[in-house]
Amino acid sequence: MNIKRIGLLTSGGDSPGMNAAIRAVFKTCSAYDLECFGIRRGYQGLIENEIFEMQAMDVKQIIQLGGTILLSARSKDFFDYEGRKRAFQNLKDHNIDALVTIGGDGTFTGATKFEKEFGVPTIGIPGTIDNDIFGTDNTIGYDTALNTVMEAVDKIRDTATSHERLFFVEVMGRDAGFIALNSGIASGAIEILIPEIKYDMEEFFSNLEKGAIKGKISHIVIVAEGEKSTNIYDLAELTKSRFPSYEVRISILGHMQRGGSPTCADRVLASRLGVAAIDGLLEGKSSVMAGIKANQVVYTPFVEAIKKHNELDPHLIKTSNLLA
Ligand code: F6P
Repeated sequence: MNIKRIGLLTSGGDSPGMNAAIRAVFKTCSAYDLECFGIRRGYQGLIENEIFEMQAMDVKQIIQLGGTILLSARSKDFFDYEGRKRAFQNLKDHNIDALVTIGGDGTFTGATKFEKEFGVPTIGIPGTIDNDIFGTDNTIGYDTALNTVMEAVDKIRDTATSHERLFFVEVMGRDAGFIALNSGIASGAIEILIPEIKYDMEEFFSNLEKGAIKGKISHIVIVAEGEKSTNIYDLAELTKSRFPSYEVRISILGHMQRGGSPTCADRVLASRLGVAAIDGLLEGKSSVMAGIKANQVVYTPFVEAIKKHNELDPHLIKTSNLLA
């Protein structure tokens, strides 16, 4: 297929570095004499025909911006065949030959279905702070989110130390503990609770006790939001009842983790993946996600990227256990 016009959208939760990826896709298209069409509000915008031809001005000075200039949404209508049919008609009306979709597993699930039904070649770029996508070492936004969490916990640590308190800090990661594990190591947390590991509460309390015996006066426990065995409020109550002398506080970092200017690592990753997406399409690839593994560009079929999961590195888990 001779690809001349490319549609570009961001979908699902925004992540820092998406703009850098948008810029890279646009600039690569320009360099190869392709036309790049922005689609606002993800798949919803595709259904509602929010499609425009991008110009150089659109991507000026956006590499350092968090969020996504194309806006994002989680589209319910795209779950329905009728919605996808409308989306296809809009692409046809604009003579768009192929799509680049930036997002997470929901985005790629939608893309897989759409391509199967209507045959529009699509390449994905992994953009989510959760880092829960198979086929790339890091997703766009993950490194920035880690640094945001680390800085926030450093600040919380000041109060924890001054008031000799125990803080439970909840971090994002819908089903994955990558943010919790890495930010926990980086901020010297005494415990890190993640969905991938089943915890023994007695062991958890005994570790807190050991810390207190060693003279530790402030404790930070990082809890991944996806941790299913307990919730942060119950955990705090339970801890208060076990250690009545501890002053326990809860801090839920929330959406601050999704915003902010992307780190250098995220900007470079996003730029490389933007180039890789267009190269892939021109090489005839489709229904795949561009990723970077061991510093090499790789393409992983959407079905694998969605279904498989990157395992947590056992050495990281050992490190967190030894250093807590
Ligand atoms: O997938 C990214 C993420 O930030 C998750 O970590 C979190 O569970 C979810 O999105 C929150 O989604 P929303 O912004 O729709 O509440």
